[in-house]
Amino acid sequence: MTTIQALLPEAHRCLAAAGVEGPIRDARLLLEAATGIPIAAQIGHPDREVAPEAVEHFRALVARRAAREPVAQILGRREFWSLDFRVTNATLDPRPDSETLVQAVLDRVPDRNAPLLLLDFGTGTGCLLLALLHELPNATGIGLDISWPALEVALENARDLGLEHRTTFRLRVWERPGSETFDIIVANPPYIPSGEIADLQPEVSQYEPRLALDGGPDGLDAYRILLPVTARRLRGGGFAAFEVGIGQADSVAALGTAQGLVHVATVADLGGVPRVVIWEKEQRLQRIGQAVGRFWRRVKKAVGKRVRTD
Ligand SMILES: C[S@@+](CC[C@H](N)C(=O)[O-])C[C@H]1O[C@@H](n2cnc3c(N)ncnc32)[C@H](O)[C@@H]1O
Repeated sequence: MTTIQALLPEAHRCLAAAGVEGPIRDARLLLEAATGIPIAAQIGHPDREVAPEAVEHFRALVARRAAREPVAQILGRREFWSLDFRVTNATLDPRPDSETLVQAVLDRVPDRNAPLLLLDFGTGTGCLLLALLHELPNATGIGLDISWPALEVALENARDLGLEHRTTFRLRVWERPGSETFDIIVANPPYIPSGEIADLQPEVSQYEPRLALDGGPDGLDAYRILLPVTARRLRGGGFAAFEVGIGQADSVAALGTAQGLVHVATVADLGGVPRVVIWEKEQRLQRIGQAVGRFWRRVKKAVGKRVRTD
């Protein structure tokens, strides 16, 4: 029988030669998946023996990783916001950067027990919507996506997390979210400029769905569609939080402002990259008040001019 300490170096070498980042961590994760032996036990008992069929399974997983298939797709799971999500090749692998959006939204919610209605444009695994619903016990949410296989995964995740009774998933394009208006709208749309996708790591360019990546020539196509819809679908006093790619925050903020939304914050991720743009929709009364204020300022200016001319 083969032992853990005999198997791991062989896997490290294979993964390192294939250019995999973090080959030691990945080898241990795959060994855990193949044998059921947790990483802590692998470290504590390196001389533990592994059954021949588990060795064969482990080597097959290592070969898939060496072909640069992402670990999350091999394991079929990914942790996000300390919750366990199912992941397939039809969904974007939830990124730690996207947890910035979840935290930024929660930081702006004055009452976490309020019965809020949320919309998630392009829900994928459902990670953003489900993480938020997990923290907002009386909220409900709609997740929409153009990909049916992605929605099936999102639904399964909602069930696994016990959130299906507060979630609705819809097979829709951005332009047609439904007839509701929302307190909070979130989105992590595809934002990679089309011409840059081929240069990304093979884990992304070859294994993640193009629908989840391709943001058009400058990466901003989805925002141009989503922000007009967001301006119409947000309730007065509500807010929207969108994830953006590196260097996109100012352009995306301006696209929202052009739709009458008020840009209130841009939040950086843990690496210091401006990652989440937040806008509010003014309350109708506030907007009327501001319009009246503008009117009186103009009247005063006009009267003042006339007085001086006289
Ligand atoms: C970048 S992924 C984000 C997934 C998930 N929200 C996350 O943060 O991991 C974008 C999602 O938008 C979906 N999508 C792309 N174009 C769409 C469209 N025109 N209408 C609706 N959904 C779309 C994709 O299928 C994909 O699931």
